[in-house]
Amino acid sequence: MTKPYVYMTRQVSSEVLGLIQEVAQVGVWEEDRPVPRDILLQEAKKAVALYVMLTDRIDEELLSQAPQLRMVASMAVGYDHIDLEACKRRGIVVTNTPDVLTEATADLAFALLMATGRRMVEANRYLHEGRWESWGPYLLAGQSISGRTLGIIGMGRIGEAVAKRAAGFDMRVLYNNRKPRPEAEQAYGVAYRELDDLLQESDYVLLLTPLTPETRHLMSDREFGLMKPSAVFINVSRGATVDEAALYRALTTGQIWAAGLDVFEVEPIPTDHPLLTLPNVVAMPHIGSATYETRDAMAMLAARNLVNVLIGEEPITPL
Ligand code: DGY
Repeated sequence: MTKPYVYMTRQVSSEVLGLIQEVAQVGVWEEDRPVPRDILLQEAKKAVALYVMLTDRIDEELLSQAPQLRMVASMAVGYDHIDLEACKRRGIVVTNTPDVLTEATADLAFALLMATGRRMVEANRYLHEGRWESWGPYLLAGQSISGRTLGIIGMGRIGEAVAKRAAGFDMRVLYNNRKPRPEAEQAYGVAYRELDDLLQESDYVLLLTPLTPETRHLMSDREFGLMKPSAVFINVSRGATVDEAALYRALTTGQIWAAGLDVFEVEPIPTDHPLLTLPNVVAMPHIGSATYETRDAMAMLAARNLVNVLIGEEPITPL
């Protein structure tokens, strides 16, 4: 019996490839850049399953040309690149990779918070550029972290993991979520606030909410206007949760103090983007979960999900 055809939009490890090859014939996009749309559409026409990245859009256009498609295994926790409704209508199973990236993403979020509050990137650049002439009482002074208030918007698994880290820094942690989470309050000592109250009270605002139609441009002029002039804004969710033009205005008019960003509305962010001209912006190329162990675990979980569906078992982490 011929094995079903699976298309993978990136090379991961030989271990993952081997696992999938046990049950499928596998085509792989071998270049180290996202697969071009036309190739993805061609491959989807013959595939029973797709193993995809967050850079691949799985939408009505693709699905309508993929008559054999039964499953989409995505190597990401965020799923705004997949039209879940359209998949559901066609009975296509979709999986993501939650949990395995929680700790790494929380580490990066906290590192970004610290780097931004304490101006670490700016200080590093200052030294490398040969501008350090003497110690100064306020040279590159930043915002305190210990004892300050952290407001987390989107209190899921990653939010909880950040709250644990913040406790070690004696931070007070507030959170906002679609629904209050008494069990998280109990376990991590966090306190629920309405969004506006959280923005007004926090010294650090960390955005972790998934991108949905409701959270698109959740942070815009009005919301930045509520924040303290000394406040630091961190985004580790999806770029489109923030109105970047409004963020730029807030940063350049002193409405907020600094921003640490791991995600952008358009990725890769163009190098001439106004936000990248600002010294009070620390920018990362969407590396929240990028540790070797975590990416291996994500790649393997996506593969196990895919294999399970192909052999008629339940996926481990369905959406
Ligand atoms: C995700 O998985 O959604 C992250 O943004 C990348 O790890």
